[in-house]
Amino acid sequence: MSQFPAFRPRRLRRSEALRSVARETEVRAADLILPLFAVPGTGVRRPVGSMPGVEQTSVDELVRDAEEALRLGVGGVLLFGVPEHKDEAGSGGYDEDGIVQRAVRSLKRELPELLVITDVCLCEYTSHGHCGVLRGGDVDNDLTLPLLARVAATHAAAGADVVAPSDMMDGRVGALRASLDAGGFSHTAILSYAVKYASSFYGPFRDVAESAPSEGDRRSAQMDPANVLEALREARLDVAEGADMLMVKPALSYLDVIHRVKAETGYPVFAYHVSGEYAMIEAAARLGWIDGPRAHVEALTSIRRAGADRIVSYYARQFARAGSR
Ligand code: PBG
Repeated sequence: MSQFPAFRPRRLRRSEALRSVARETEVRAADLILPLFAVPGTGVRRPVGSMPGVEQTSVDELVRDAEEALRLGVGGVLLFGVPEHKDEAGSGGYDEDGIVQRAVRSLKRELPELLVITDVCLCEYTSHGHCGVLRGGDVDNDLTLPLLARVAATHAAAGADVVAPSDMMDGRVGALRASLDAGGFSHTAILSYAVKYASSFYGPFRDVAESAPSEGDRRSAQMDPANVLEALREARLDVAEGADMLMVKPALSYLDVIHRVKAETGYPVFAYHVSGEYAMIEAAARLGWIDGPRAHVEALTSIRRAGADRIVSYYARQFARAGSR
C-alpha cells in the first residue's frame, strides 16, 4: 500500500464524475418495492397523518399509483389491505373476494408485467389486531397456520407473483408452501419475513393499516432486537421450509443482520425500510433539521451497501420521480 503523499484518497472525490467512478453501491428505482394500502370504495384517497406522502387508496386509485410506479421503473409493489369489517378469526384476509384479492386481480389485469407481492398476515383483519387466532391472551401458533395458508392460496389464485408472510408464526413457510402446491400454485414464490423484530418503528404503519393490537404487543412472536444469531437460525429454518427469498425488518437498525443473512444464506434478501424509519426522516426534514431527500437516499444506499438486494420503501416513488442516481 503506497502512503501519503503518494496516495491521496481525496483525488477521487473532487468531482461528481470522479466520485461516480469510485462509487461501490448504487440504488436504482428497480431496487425499490412500493408498499400500497387498499381500502374499500372507489375514488378514495386518504392521507395518513403520521406518514406524509402515504395514502390509503381504493383499488381503482391504487392501480393508478402502481401504474406510475411501474412507468418510473420501481421494482414492484407490496400490497396490504384494510377490510370492510374485522372479526375474531380475520376472515376478511382469506375471502376470495377480499380487498387484497380484488386489488391483485385488478393489478394483474391492468399491469401484467408489474411484480405483485402480497403481505400475508391477519393483523389487519382481526378485530383484536393480533396476527392470528387468540387463545388465552396469546396468538395460538398452530391454529393460525391453516388460516395463513388460506390467505396465501387466495392471493395466489388472484394472481400474486409472490406471497410474503409477516406474521412470525413458527412453521408458516412450510404451511404456505404445502397449501400453495396443493392448490396448483407451485410457481408462486414465498418471500419470508424470516427476520422480523418486535420494533417500535412500526408505529405509523399501524395507523395506515389500522392494525394496532387492541391490547398487548407482538413480543411473543416477533424477535428480540438484541439477537442476531437467532436471526440466522430463523433464516435457515425458513430456507429449509421452502422460502425463495428472505426479508429482514426493520432495516436501518439492523444493517448487520442484513449483511449476515445475505452472506450466510446467499438467498435474495429484501430489507423492509419501515414506516417509523421513513417517518423519522420526514419529520426531521419538515422541521428543517435535515435535508430530507439526501437523508432518504443516504439511508437507502446504506441498506443496499449492507447487502440487501431489494428494499421495501415508502420513498420508492419519490426516489424514482427524481431519477435514478
Ligand atoms: C404485519 C406487518 C407490520 C408491518 C408490515 N407487516 C406491522 C407489525 O408487525 O406490527 C410494518 C411495516 C412498517 O412499519 O412499515 N402485517
